[in-house]
Amino acid sequence: MFEEDFDHIRKISHGHGCFSWTSKEYQDDILNFIIENRDRGSGVIEVGCYKGGLSALLAFLCHEFKWPFYTIDIDESAVVSTRNLLSTLSLLDGVNIHHGTLASFVPTVKLNERPALVILDGDHRYEAVVKDIADLYRLNKLPYSAVFHDFSLRHPTSGEKVDQAVKDCLENCSVRHIGALMNGDGKYPTEANPSDDGHWWNIPGSEGAIVELPPNQTPGNRQCQSPSFLMRLLGRFRG
Ligand SMILES: C[S@@+](CC[C@H](N)C(=O)[O-])C[C@H]1O[C@@H](n2cnc3c(N)ncnc32)[C@H](O)[C@@H]1O
Repeated sequence: MFEEDFDHIRKISHGHGCFSWTSKEYQDDILNFIIENRDRGSGVIEVGCYKGGLSALLAFLCHEFKWPFYTIDIDESAVVSTRNLLSTLSLLDGVNIHHGTLASFVPTVKLNERPALVILDGDHRYEAVVKDIADLYRLNKLPYSAVFHDFSLRHPTSGEKVDQAVKDCLENCSVRHIGALMNGDGKYPTEANPSDDGHWWNIPGSEGAIVELPPNQTPGNRQCQSPSFLMRLLGRFRG
């Protein structure tokens, strides 16, 4: 479904230098998830649009389903690039591009329905992911599901640990691995054999993961929303 449209959008995006850092497998897993779950929720929120490569595909699907699409980036040049690409593709209608973070976006938006999906691909450091998850629960409508990119990525100095943050905050949730699977088959750097810049992938792991967001009452969420829990975590990983 929509394969020709996706190919066309990818071609235009590449022509404008608006590539995505993510793999095609990961993008397709997200697009198929949205299509398969289109009766569950309305709208998509993307955190971290970069040049707009994935945003264009998401904006297209939202346009087809008559859903709102929201995308957020802390970097103004990412906002400009994404806006220009969506304008070129005539996909700006119904799109809200926010310059800032999820935290600054939350008070500006009033969602009419629960979004089908939120994609978290901004700051991948442990405490930033904990904060983003807490901010999701401050939206006036909780998205049904969340995608996390760079799920099992590690770096010796910058503190990426998305999978651990998800495990700590959403402890009883099932995780569906998407995109490239990290199984130590030699395709991707591992702890024993890291890349030149030091990054590696925890095994078993994956490029991305989809998690169904539990309503507030689960213990994991209560903990994650609690300011004291958040502050303890932030303190632990800052110090
Ligand atoms: C890895 S790129 C995103 C890639 C994009 N999703 C794609 O498919 O190409 C990360 C982006 O997140 C933005 N970013 C970093 N920290 C952020 C934050 N706390 N809130 C929002 N955006 C953030 C960066 O400016 C950058 O454009």
